[in-house]
Amino acid sequence: MARVARTVSEFRRARRELGTVAFVPTMGALHEGHIALVNRAALLAESVVVSIFVNPLQFGEKEDLGRYPRDLEGDLNKLPEKVLVFAPDAEELYPEGDSETRISAGAAGETFEGASRPGHFDGMLTVVAKLFNIVEPQFAVFGQKDAQQVFLVRRMVRDLNFDLEIDVVETVREPDGLALSSRNRFLSGAERSDSLALSRALRAAQSAATSRNSAMDAARGILDSARGIDLDYFELVDPKSFRPIASGFKGEATAIVAAKLGSTRLIDNAPVVIG
Ligand code: PAF
Repeated sequence: MARVARTVSEFRRARRELGTVAFVPTMGALHEGHIALVNRAALLAESVVVSIFVNPLQFGEKEDLGRYPRDLEGDLNKLPEKVLVFAPDAEELYPEGDSETRISAGAAGETFEGASRPGHFDGMLTVVAKLFNIVEPQFAVFGQKDAQQVFLVRRMVRDLNFDLEIDVVETVREPDGLALSSRNRFLSGAERSDSLALSRALRAAQSAATSRNSAMDAARGILDSARGIDLDYFELVDPKSFRPIASGFKGEATAIVAAKLGSTRLIDNAPVVIG
């Protein structure tokens, strides 16, 4: 079982003994995808810090903050003893209620996930910046599953001169292709099997990638005929700008997809080499 610090001052005292740190920020409900991040972090620095904090700032009013799974004891048991966990409560990080000072994710924070979840990325970047200031890591490890989050965190680190390196770990999948997510536990049996259309659409785009349009058509063919999914978006974006690619684009794009299955929103993405 990992050690835990519940307050900033307790964490900072423990931090003094850690040497270089690779940091894995999470909202808990840890699964194999998180463990892959922790394993990667262990290769990068002398110590690993994991934060477990369900950040109210990144949830909209109608979102699933209330039902987001929380199991600190279970999470601590999944982590190696030598990991230091920082698990503050909301009052510790936001003693005056929601922080009025926020990081702006800019225009790229208002597209795709940001269009469906207004304010989400400002709230996410604000807590990540706070956590970077508290944890003072040399490395921070994120999962590629949240591709737009990774893009925005990397840009914040560059724009605001955080003195650390961002490391990104590939998405961990179930054998049938479903990307691991803390929200998968909310899927019914039927939704679980319908959700496979997302990863199938990504694979279809990868195998029909002679041009942007043929990759898009292949993915749409799958998604348009899929049962039980309420598609939010499927797009091919340039990983350098997170903007949709033009039809003549050649090189590595990222296919991104989001859909609701019942009341559960899932996202996924994959690299697609066009041309
Ligand atoms: O990816 C997540 O779990 C969250 O967005 C993060 C990075 C821990 C910030 O709350």
